[in-house]
Amino acid sequence: MTDLNELSEKLSAIKAEIKDELVNITNSKSVYEYRKNIMDSKSGKIGSLMKEMCKIPNEMKAEYGKKVNEIKTWAQAEFEELDKKLKEAEMRVKYESEKIDVTLPAKKAKKGNLHPNTQMRNQLVDIFGSMGFDIYEGREIETDYYNFTALNIPQDHPARDMQDTFYLSPEFLLRTQTSSGQIHVMEEQKPPIKIISPGKVFRSDDDATHSPMFSQMEGLVVDKGITLCDLQGMLDVFVQKIFGEDTKTRLRPSYFPFTEPSVEVDVSCFQCHGAGCRLCKGTGWIEILGAGVVNKSVLEGCGIDSSVYSGIAFGIGIERIAMLKYGINNIKHLFESDLRVLDQIDD
Ligand code: DAH
Repeated sequence: MTDLNELSEKLSAIKAEIKDELVNITNSKSVYEYRKNIMDSKSGKIGSLMKEMCKIPNEMKAEYGKKVNEIKTWAQAEFEELDKKLKEAEMRVKYESEKIDVTLPAKKAKKGNLHPNTQMRNQLVDIFGSMGFDIYEGREIETDYYNFTALNIPQDHPARDMQDTFYLSPEFLLRTQTSSGQIHVMEEQKPPIKIISPGKVFRSDDDATHSPMFSQMEGLVVDKGITLCDLQGMLDVFVQKIFGEDTKTRLRPSYFPFTEPSVEVDVSCFQCHGAGCRLCKGTGWIEILGAGVVNKSVLEGCGIDSSVYSGIAFGIGIERIAMLKYGINNIKHLFESDLRVLDQIDD
């Protein structure tokens, strides 16, 4: 190229081409690509112009360089302007899409709750705790002695058939009742004794109201002059707090080897208030627990003088109370952890 006019024409053509091209560019990424392309020092339409310098006669070099720089400056300014414009538009679109309405109500966070068995156990512990009972932690694996013999149920006693036992060995078993804790407490402590002992018990039993593993809460009070009246007074407080102020208890004679006399405790039906309904099978009363006056031979076996001290004991089925209170008709619902069931029970 020897003629500056020729150069001017060439630059004008490049300018025109760039102008045309820029009109069609709609995003900043394409601006970047196009600019890279044009300014590339080897192949770019503008970037490679300096390479030509060697072919330019000396006297024209200065003018050539000036014109090339001019078009470079012009092109850079064009690219930058378009880039800025497109980037602004792109930001606007982005902000629009990310816009949030801070006045909208927040999504409700799902709140977990304690398992109904835990809720019920906590309520029982609170109620008896407020009456001055201490908590005794029993053992789930027991010896035959604590689970049966010491509770006045010797080998071959028919009462052993009342509970289908999981034996681990001839000596060890999974406790069938929290009553075994009574013996440990009476061996370890001197009267006055006033404890509750909640925990798991195990029986080979499985239907709508029985499960091989379930929970009981034992209660034991040993002191001078303790009678069935004390038992009923405490149980009245318990049932009124769980089932409602107007709930009453009724004691019916029963039989447990470790209590004499023994009673079954009923509550007045908290659904029909005595009128008779399906829950109470038309009787107005619902059986809720076993209890009694601690058998003298059990006290003596633990080294407690039965001519000085007397005791009362009771055993509450925690799932049974939960099922009654929450209207659950199958004990399995309390072990299957189905959230549709568990979500409904938040006391
Ligand atoms: N242990 C008995 C059972 O599991 C319940 C029971 C009855 C506990 C009478 C007691 C009681 O403390 O005095 O069937």
